[in-house]
Amino acid sequence: VPIRAKAYTDELILTAKTIASPGRGILAIDESNATCGKRLDSIGLDNTEVNRQAYRQLLLTTPGLGEYISGAILFEETLYQSTTDGKKFVDVLREQKIVPGIKVDKGLVPLPGSNNESWCQGLDGLASRSAEYYKQGARFAKWRTVVSIPCGPSALAVKEAAWGLARYAAISQDNGLVPIVEPEILLDGDHPIERTLEVAEKVWAEVFYYLAENNVVFEGILLKPSMVTPGAEHKEKASPETIAKHTLTVLKRRVPPAVPGIMFLSGGQSEAEATLNLNAMNQSPNPWHVSFSYARALQNSVLKAWQGHPENVEAAQRALLVRAKANSLAQLGRYSA
Ligand code: 13P
Repeated sequence: VPIRAKAYTDELILTAKTIASPGRGILAIDESNATCGKRLDSIGLDNTEVNRQAYRQLLLTTPGLGEYISGAILFEETLYQSTTDGKKFVDVLREQKIVPGIKVDKGLVPLPGSNNESWCQGLDGLASRSAEYYKQGARFAKWRTVVSIPCGPSALAVKEAAWGLARYAAISQDNGLVPIVEPEILLDGDHPIERTLEVAEKVWAEVFYYLAENNVVFEGILLKPSMVTPGAEHKEKASPETIAKHTLTVLKRRVPPAVPGIMFLSGGQSEAEATLNLNAMNQSPNPWHVSFSYARALQNSVLKAWQGHPENVEAAQRALLVRAKANSLAQLGRYSA
């Protein structure tokens, strides 16, 4: 007996395929107002709606962006905003053949009964919000929850993260939005890469168990994993080849080939590291499109170039294109530093 609404299935599959198209990836600019404030503060700007709008306008109106970027994840405020000339940001994106997306989770709070871990809010009212976002032009969604290795992770925290992602994914698909499934395994800790691999296997096993239990259509989702690396405070750094090998090992063991795209987060890696690691993962054919959904690793040099000055907008947009192109080449396995 079919349980899930079938209305959107073809559209979901097409949306996911479009986002996972060769040489393209996702520009993540879905920072909450508080997090966007930190980015603006790093260049001495106040966290006002005007400044957030100016920054997002700079990013989204970059000429030629659509060659390298297939989707842009927005925060709710940005989904409803326009350029200073009055053009809706969603229309700016559509003209560049970039699919608009929306962050739908409501952030993290402490998880009672766990080892100082957290869980993700936002399921209440998600169906009606998702339907509104679809009307506004969004075609994919993102829900980021986190798993901490130094805090355990406890079985409870992993189960909660996986279940929440699966509920969100089912609700998104019922409302025409391709869910990006993002259980971020935080970089914090001094553990070796083998420990990250073990935790990632556990997390993805549970995520797919509950995705299946919730009748999620695998062809109509995208994943946003962390790369498998040693903890940030581990004594040795790993090479891109080692990171690629461990990351692909986990994914091949846990992710069915029906999933069209794997769009990595950058998680605090430098811009160069994020590009090199992605390039290393694309040195041989993969069952899925392996690409990027970077926030910090696409924005750091843009902020530096911009400094909040209108006369720097063009230079900042050029900086964005440099990173976007490098990651596009890395998606194709053709980047060289
Ligand atoms: P980073 O690439 O900065 O880790 O951002 C990840 C993210 O989830 C933004 O959507």
